[in-house]
Amino acid sequence: MSTTTFPGAALLTGKVAFISGAGRGIGAAAARVFTREGARVLLAARTESELKATAEDVRAAGGEAEYLVCDLADTAAVRAAIEQTVSRFGRLDIAFNNGGTIQRPGPMDGVEESEFDRIYQVNLKSVWTAMTAEVAAIRATAGTGAIVNNSSIGSLRANPELPIYAAMKRGVNSLTASAAATYGPEAIRVNAIAPGNTRTEMIRAWEENSPGLRTRLESLTPLGRSADPEEIAQAAAWLLSDRASFVTGTVLRVDGGARA
Ligand SMILES: NC(=O)c1ccc[n+]([C@@H]2O[C@H](COP(=O)([O-])OP(=O)(O)OC[C@H]3O[C@@H](n4cnc5c(N)ncnc54)[C@H](OP(=O)(O)O)[C@@H]3O)[C@@H](O)[C@H]2O)c1
Repeated sequence: MSTTTFPGAALLTGKVAFISGAGRGIGAAAARVFTREGARVLLAARTESELKATAEDVRAAGGEAEYLVCDLADTAAVRAAIEQTVSRFGRLDIAFNNGGTIQRPGPMDGVEESEFDRIYQVNLKSVWTAMTAEVAAIRATAGTGAIVNNSSIGSLRANPELPIYAAMKRGVNSLTASAAATYGPEAIRVNAIAPGNTRTEMIRAWEENSPGLRTRLESLTPLGRSADPEEIAQAAAWLLSDRASFVTGTVLRVDGGARA
């Protein structure tokens, strides 16, 4: 597209970003990557000490970050967090709906109803809530923008160890496609990333229930290793940037080839 302009080398110069699940793991890596690429960020999660540490890390590197304690299971809190992004920074351009939780691994007949509802609220309903609030905020301020939802390669086929987690992530893929079709005419792009095995607390917790998990997952990955969280954040940054200006409605695997 010959009219596209890139105001400097950085991917996200001048953009204001909302990032959920930003206290640790992939979300914290996104905070560092996005600010290095020129964005200002609002970080949300439940654990204040982790948010504070991530924000301090970003500021020490010369970036601009604010944070807000927010439980993704609380619809009003999710909407308020996005409104706070606008009131603190004056606009919203991009959002990374990354926060998520894992179920207790095991077959679906061992899952309690309350566990199903918790995974639904945090991993699927919050993505719908966040996207609708983000679209409203982008419309009212920046005018155009981009959203990336964090799915998982676990959503792409049968997942007997994490069936409820997988179902919600497949729901995220569907919401992503529908949102891309709905908001494309307004030049609001919506994509998802589907990470493979990434070295975070989530995988550590899963491995506690499934000894040898990491080695097993690495052996199923053509690149022969797990991802550093920053490698996942880099894909989100690109999708959120103007460099991906004709990409919408996709679920981008970032998995070392595990689903190739
Ligand atoms: N690691 C992997 O291999 C992998 C693979 C595929 C997809 N993913 C996806 O990547 C995303 C990030 O996970 P991660 O691997 O970085 O795991 P992580 O290190 O456990 O980080 C998860 C983040 O989400 C936040 N979070 C969890 N429940 C929340 C809630 N109810 N309300 C608000 N925030 C909440 C956590 O903060 P608090 O606990 O403080 O709230 C934390 O900041 C998730 O959506 C996950 O499904 C990860």
